[in-house]
This record gives sequence, C-alpha cells and structure tokens, in this order.
Amino acid sequence: MKILVTGGTGFTGKALVRRLLDEGHQVVALDYQEGLKTEELRQWGAEVVIGTVTDREVVRRCMEGVEVVHHLAAAFRELDVPHSYYDEVNIGGTRICLEEAKEAGVRKFIYCSTCGVHGNVDNPPADENAPINAADYYQQTKYRAEPVVLEFHRNGLPSVILRPAAIYGPGDPERFFMIFKRVSKGVFPMFGSGRTLYHPLYIDHLVDAFLLVQQEGVGDGQAYLIADEEYVSIEDLVRRTARALGVEVRIPHYPILPLIIAGHVCEKACKPFKIKPPIFPRRVDWFRQNRAFDISKAKRELGYAPNISLDEGLRRTADWYRAEGYL
Ligand SMILES: NC(=O)c1ccc[n+]([C@@H]2O[C@H](COP(=O)([O-])OP(=O)(O)OC[C@H]3O[C@@H](n4cnc5c(N)ncnc54)[C@H](OP(=O)(O)O)[C@@H]3O)[C@@H](O)[C@H]2O)c1
Repeated sequence: MKILVTGGTGFTGKALVRRLLDEGHQVVALDYQEGLKTEELRQWGAEVVIGTVTDREVVRRCMEGVEVVHHLAAAFRELDVPHSYYDEVNIGGTRICLEEAKEAGVRKFIYCSTCGVHGNVDNPPADENAPINAADYYQQTKYRAEPVVLEFHRNGLPSVILRPAAIYGPGDPERFFMIFKRVSKGVFPMFGSGRTLYHPLYIDHLVDAFLLVQQEGVGDGQAYLIADEEYVSIEDLVRRTARALGVEVRIPHYPILPLIIAGHVCEKACKPFKIKPPIFPRRVDWFRQNRAFDISKAKRELGYAPNISLDEGLRRTADWYRAEGYL
C-alpha cells in the first residue's frame, strides 16, 4: 500500500516509517523541516515531502494514491509560540489532512491523539470512558481534534483515534533521555512522594498498534488507549532505569510546592526572550499527575498484545543511548 505518515521524521514517525517500509509498503513522510533525519528516511526508500500540515496544497500533493494516513504531526513541545499556533497545527492541520484524505479517496485515517486528554487520573487505571481533563493547551488541542476526526468518520472516511501513553525506546532523544541522564549521574531528586503513577509505552508496541488499526474494518470510529502492560510509580521507574543502566541511584525527596511555583515563574520569565525555561508546568506535572491506563479495549478489539517488559524496554533503550553516544 501507499501510506502517508505526517510527522514522519519525529521519534514515533520514524519508527513507524521504518516498520512500514520493512513490511513492503510505499511510504510518504510529510515533515516540517529538512534535516539529517529526512535524508535518512530517503536513504531507507521513503519519499519525504517538506511542508506543514497547515498548507493545503502540500497536504493535497502528499495524498496522491495514498490508501492509509497515519497523522502524527503535532505542535508538541513548542514553548515560545502563542496558543493559536497549537490551534492552527493540531486542530486546523488535522482538519486539512482529513479533508484532503477524504477528497483523495483514502480508505483509512489514523489520528494519533494522547493519553494526556484524560489529565490527572483520579481513579487509576483509567479507560477510554474516564473523564476528559486535559491539563495543558497542547493536550486540549489534541483532544479538540478528536471530534473532528469522528465527524469525518461518520461522513464516510473510516477513522481511528489512538491515545498513546508515555512513549519511550531507542530513537527518543528527549523525554526519557532526561530520566536516563539524571539517573546515570547517580542522584535523582524526587519532588513529592514518588508514588505518582506513570504508564510507559515502548515504541515498538505503539507501532504494532498503528499497524493493527490500519487494517480494513479494525477499530473504525473508536478511540483506544495504547500503553505497555505495566504501569509503575515514578520512584520505581527511576530505580528500574538505574538497574537497566547498571548504576546505583540515590533518590533524595523534596517538597513539590516550590517546584510548582518555580515552573510557573520560569515559564513567564523566559517567554518574552523566547528561551526554553529549565522548568515549566508540563515538566513539573511529571512528578504529580497520575497516568495509569486500562488497555483492555485495545487488547480485546484490536488484538493489541504488548509483549516487551518494562525492564527489557529500558535495557534496550539504555543500550541505544550508550551506542549512540548520548550517555
Ligand atoms: N511522546 C509521547 O510520549 C507522546 C505521548 C502521547 C502522544 N504523542 C503524540 O504522538 C505523536 C508523535 O509524537 P513524538 O513524540 O514522536 O513527537 P515528535 O518527535 O516531536 O514528532 C512530531 C513530528 O511532527 C513534526 N511536525 C510538527 N509540526 C508540524 C507541522 N506543522 N507540519 C508537519 N510536521 C510537523 C515535527 O517536525 P519537527 O521536528 O521538524 O518540528 C516532528 O517530526 C504526536 O502526535 C504526539 O502528540 C506523543
């Protein structure tokens, strides 16, 4: 099949493109800017189109002959942009992709949302019917695109929504890397009790889920939480990361309130200068927002079967960071 992956050079996009090519599909990757990763994807045999999902002409060009769209492109970690930028990319860009997919006769549209739409989980584990309570503007816009996807589904474009948990694994240069880096130094400052729940998602499992839902008639019109089999406390995650790295880690505890205040102050102070603050509210949330999910719907209806344990996933990730010179 000819398959379009928007955000195809991102962490998840790249892993998905690799698997689709391995399975013999023809892949078009749409991404924002030229770089080392775009060249790598071309060498693998993917067609790379540079442009934004908010540019209808570019999106239209990408859709030619495409049967399946995996829509992953998103404004995500941009901190020095107004809220309207998130609206434009995450909602407006999704609508443009849907309109052009429908026009081009695409037979399946997969929208990559986020487990973050549920915000702090009061009664863990949360399933897809748990309250929607997005904590920040990024998550709110990811959620506000979901009804748009379902609207197109009802109007004849079979569509599925995936809500991934915290993605990690080889190839992730940012999120889990911060945990690995701090743990590798032997001291991990823990703000709060450390008992906050966290639900990791090994990258290969998410790619499995994308491949399952791209099949005809699978998951249509539904939203699925996608995560690993196991969720853990953040203190346990830190200890198991240390084990994966083969290091000892000390975990001193500190009160969280000063960090919450510092997060808000830093974000406000850095904004006018367009610099990335060292701490900001979304980062602080890691210490205090419960994220634990019930994945039985995906298992039951999609045949989703995550089989790489957290310890194995962390070990593979540690090996990758070392092999690539990150640690
Ligand atoms: N990481 C997680 O833990 C997590 C959890 C739940 C859901 N998700 C969702 O999973 C998807 C992939 O996340 P990821 O972690 O792989 O993120 P990522 O590495 O930042 O990938 C996102 C990609 O989208 C591209 N992009 C951004 N704006 C674009 C635009 N206007 N037009 C075209 N491309 C654009 C980015 O390009 P540049 O790099 O050039 O900006 C990047 O390559 C996103 O939809 C995200 O919301 C992520």
